[in-house]
Amino acid sequence: MTHPLRLGIAGLGTVGTGVVKIIRQKANLLAERADRPVVITAVSARSRDKDRGVNLKDYAWEDDPVALATRDDVDVFVELMGGSDGPAKAATEAAIAAGKDVVTANKAMLAHHGHALAMAAEAAGRVIRFEAAVAGGIPVIKTLAEGLAGNEVTRVMGVMNGTCNYILTRMQSAGLPYDDVFEEANQLGYLEADPTLDVGGIDAGHKLSLLAAIAFGTQVDFDAVELDGIERITIDDIHQAADMGYRIKLLGVAQLTGRGLEQRMSPCLVPDTSPLGQLEGGTNMCVLEGDAVEQIVLRGPGAGEGPTASAVMGDVMDIARGFRMSVFGRPAAGLTKAKPAQAVTPAPYYLRMALEDKPGAMAKIATVLGENGVSIDRMRQYQHDGSTAPVLIVTHKVTRNDLDHALAAMDELDVMKETPVALRIETV
Ligand code: HSE
Repeated sequence: MTHPLRLGIAGLGTVGTGVVKIIRQKANLLAERADRPVVITAVSARSRDKDRGVNLKDYAWEDDPVALATRDDVDVFVELMGGSDGPAKAATEAAIAAGKDVVTANKAMLAHHGHALAMAAEAAGRVIRFEAAVAGGIPVIKTLAEGLAGNEVTRVMGVMNGTCNYILTRMQSAGLPYDDVFEEANQLGYLEADPTLDVGGIDAGHKLSLLAAIAFGTQVDFDAVELDGIERITIDDIHQAADMGYRIKLLGVAQLTGRGLEQRMSPCLVPDTSPLGQLEGGTNMCVLEGDAVEQIVLRGPGAGEGPTASAVMGDVMDIARGFRMSVFGRPAAGLTKAKPAQAVTPAPYYLRMALEDKPGAMAKIATVLGENGVSIDRMRQYQHDGSTAPVLIVTHKVTRNDLDHALAAMDELDVMKETPVALRIETV
């Protein structure tokens, strides 16, 4: 056996504690697999005294993550603190400058600073690995960067925020409104400290931007992700989509076309019989498409101690075995700056609206749709008591441009009581 691989772990929350447990409990197995011991030399966290249920006394303690990251007895800086800037970024930069490899679960940091960090790491001959940053325990980065290295990747899709999938599927199974299920998720501890990161699609958008960079050889560009969250999805949307044979998912889609890079994270309808349609609870799913492989579907837990620590350990073990790869699967200096593009491929849409219940209201809607080239596939008016008629329309395929014009014109109509909701129906 060769010399041990020495880790410095910053952040001892759920994931950090899970990594410590794996390394303590599976020391022999890890050493056999890597042909060298994998050990922790030092740790760092906000509170030294907190009982985390693991024995930390064998490890040196550092209050300052930068001091931890630059210790002489640390080979790999394992960053599990989170946060796009602040201590996580400072310590990662310090680690690279001090000649350490980095393993991180920090999607926000990489979505905002991934290209600059990759350039710095590669200039220093170091690696940054981040399997745990995307889709928890699913080894999607390994699959995309290594397993599909012989493909032109054509499209990447995914449900990559377990909290949103929990909320949407729980609304459906329990028939509960959004606010009730949001509170339930809060009580269960599923929500990020800032819940907008989850329900606003930001967390999932971070993950999509990282996958897009690997898939298409582009510089990670989170600011170009078209983002829409699940806050406006009502229990009526859930029921009415189900009535039409669909499920609503917070779905990320990235593809590179002649016009540029499309990256969107938004609530979409998917067929209820499709793998994405059947995804329940906090589970994640990534769908990868390549010219040679066609389609791969990966499904698994998107968060939690064991699954996320499992992903961190996959990266640690690659480094222990001497496997080194460019941060985004090709040298950072060669990553192109993609032009952001809106999705223009025609798609069917689900339109939900509340009309004033009076003669001619429906005719006005149909006229506006027709004038803007939007053809109706299916239409339902649901039972109601008062003066407002809930109406649902599924369109034939329509371009985004035509749909936006139709929605703007509909919003102006005197019979429209609320701004209509439009959700894309995704072919998966
Ligand atoms: N808040 C995230 C989720 C955790 O719900 O999927 C993992 O990034």
